[in-house]
Amino acid sequence: MNNDNFTRRNFIRTSVALAGSAAILSAQSPNDTVRVAFIGVGNRGSYLLKNMLKVPGIKVVAICDIDPEALKKAVDEATAAGNTPDPYTEYRKMLDRKDIDAVVIATPVDLHKEMSVAALEVGKNVYQEKPLGLNPEQSRMLVNAAKNAKGIFQVGFQLRHDPNRAASMKFVHEGGIGDVLFLQGYRHTGDLPRQTLWYFDRTRSGDNILEQACHIIDLMVWAAGTHPLRAFGSGGINLYHDIPPGRTTMDNYTVIYEFPKNVRFVFSHIYFDPPAFSGIKERVFGSKAAVDLATATVTELDKESSARKLEVPDADQDSTYLSLASFIDNARGHKRPLNNAESARISSLTSILGRKSIYERRVVDWSEVDV
Ligand SMILES: NC(=O)c1ccc[n+]([C@@H]2O[C@H](COP(=O)([O-])OP(=O)(O)OC[C@H]3O[C@@H](n4cnc5c(N)ncnc54)[C@H](O)[C@@H]3O)[C@@H](O)[C@H]2O)c1
Repeated sequence: MNNDNFTRRNFIRTSVALAGSAAILSAQSPNDTVRVAFIGVGNRGSYLLKNMLKVPGIKVVAICDIDPEALKKAVDEATAAGNTPDPYTEYRKMLDRKDIDAVVIATPVDLHKEMSVAALEVGKNVYQEKPLGLNPEQSRMLVNAAKNAKGIFQVGFQLRHDPNRAASMKFVHEGGIGDVLFLQGYRHTGDLPRQTLWYFDRTRSGDNILEQACHIIDLMVWAAGTHPLRAFGSGGINLYHDIPPGRTTMDNYTVIYEFPKNVRFVFSHIYFDPPAFSGIKERVFGSKAAVDLATATVTELDKESSARKLEVPDADQDSTYLSLASFIDNARGHKRPLNNAESARISSLTSILGRKSIYERRVVDWSEVDV
């Protein structure tokens, strides 16, 4: 299915649905304050909270986590910033509250679907961390839940809000590098923190290609303007056998994606890189020039020393802050987010396509994951 058509069709449908539900927030929140709740305030959720507390016009009114330490730390931080959040350990109980406008969900990947669907069903605006779901079926359920919801649904692919990447992508989409011909990405950043066990359990995280690599994969899908046609990958555990105990996630893999018009995307992910070899790369090669997305640096073809930095508005702004600020703005205005359910589905399915190819050691077509 062509992603452009799909997205456009979905956009019209969503716009109509949102228009019908206008003023949900103002009905509940007379002074236009957006009352925010959090589910999951661990590593990511606590960073989201810190940034959310800087967004004008919000109040953090409730926080839920099953870890008492994480919960207390988050409640204390929000309280110190002038909020009065009530603590919860059962998210469904928290969702029963009518005076919550928006919910930020940053729990392990296997919990995304049930929590987001529950929040959407009771009319909340939802910011859910990436990836969308653990598998194609969950991803589809989330798209359907978002389509039928009163609130908006935004996914935490915050790099689309990063000023450098946004400027680079604008340049690509406006034809600055000519036709997009080739995409290259890698993520070599050492192993994940060993104390967080769910990261290493593929049934909970969806494996590293989904849980970790989905950001870069999302950017490349955005650059290509559509989903890949097929993928072939190879990967496994070469060094960290049973480290931490029970590990089922890969410590290295590589995937080649084929997009329409003969565009290839080559991606590798290594967890045993020595520090001197560590790094992240996101490059788009075109018929006239190539761009490094993370630095917004363009180099023209066949010209020596032609590297130049694109003009980047708000270059020093944090992408997570910008992503959350856009969520609050979208919730207020019932606007369709840049990172909506469908765009997140395409990006997450692209990770899942590569994962399936690696696990099954064969070329996998898009139609096999596009349920
Ligand atoms: N966008 C990004 O750059 C980024 C970065 C890191 C993580 N993430 C994503 O954020 C999510 C969370 O990752 P993390 O690194 O913060 O993991 P984490 O383990 O540090 O935090 C998860 C938190 O969820 C809590 N939790 C688990 N089950 C719960 C339940 N039933 N009810 C309430 N709370 C519950 C845990 O106690 C923990 O505090 C994942 O989806 C991950 O992929 C995104």
